Amino acid sequence: MIPIQPPFPVSRPRRMRGSAALRDLAQEHRLSVKDLIWPIFITDVPGADVEIASMPGVVRRTLDGAVRAAEEAAELGIPAICLFPFTDPALKTDLCEEAWNPDNFYNRVIRAIKARVPEVAIMTDVALDPYNANGHDGLVRDGIILNDETVEALVKMSLAQAEAGADILGPSDMMDGRIGAIRSATEAAGFKDITIMSYAAKYASAFYGPFRDAVGASGALKGDKKTYQMNPGNSDEAIRLVARDLAEGADMVMVKPGMPYLDICRRVKDAFGAPTFAYQVSGEYAMLMAAANNGWVKGEAVMLESLMAFRRAGCDGVLTYFAPETARVLRG
Ligand code: PBG
Repeated sequence: MIPIQPPFPVSRPRRMRGSAALRDLAQEHRLSVKDLIWPIFITDVPGADVEIASMPGVVRRTLDGAVRAAEEAAELGIPAICLFPFTDPALKTDLCEEAWNPDNFYNRVIRAIKARVPEVAIMTDVALDPYNANGHDGLVRDGIILNDETVEALVKMSLAQAEAGADILGPSDMMDGRIGAIRSATEAAGFKDITIMSYAAKYASAFYGPFRDAVGASGALKGDKKTYQMNPGNSDEAIRLVARDLAEGADMVMVKPGMPYLDICRRVKDAFGAPTFAYQVSGEYAMLMAAANNGWVKGEAVMLESLMAFRRAGCDGVLTYFAPETARVLRG
């Protein structure tokens, strides 16, 4: 409800925009380095430290490179990083066993970071696609995504990540029932304080293209992910999925992609008041970088404006590839 405004000239809204001091006082939302989660790509196969063509400025990191990134996050004050693996194609199978190998590269990186930079929270990716020969987030038989078998695999994967020292489990797969299954398994195994950020409203989006290049899933993926990721035409469904995931034990919920889905962020925050995050995904980063690198927009300004939009839409934080750059700018 917007109260009726006094008429002009009693009310001159421009008065409050007249100086930087007044604009600062009246500002409703702020962006802080504490709102940022930095997604990082990791690999132990050749090709680390090479820029991803569709994501200028973003590289895949070795174990040592990942530890250095975590140290950089700590130094910049970024509270959390999120790890995504580029897996050796030789380790990808139809059963995805490498996903829950306690000593896989991913879990070794978690241990290395936790040993060196324990104060930076590590969020994981709980999904089979980096380990799946067919590029899907679910186990596939005869062309069908197997929901319940996938959930069992995700539980094993989550327990291995929890064991390695993860702080936040991030199920990004969109199978039904996985939050409840992961929550009861981690409780039973004694990981009472591990948090879950559910990719609750994750849409079947074309904005994930550069990410699939970064994790080497583009070539492998057969078909699309529309039988498990959401239809971009839906909004009420997002509310139902968030309600379900919170009821199953999620501590935080995510909307993904970000900028094209700010309406969903606002609805989710208003409906639940739960810790709400958005993922400014690879395609969003690629678009802004492409325009900035062409001189068509001012890179730093659009970066900050795009991230402020998430705060205005009700998000508590944002996963963004701009995290270190934003932290540097905000620090001045
Ligand atoms: C898959 C996953 C994807 C992203 C994060 N986890 C891509 C997909 O669903 O195909 C995308 C992130 C981005 O585009 O930045 N588990």
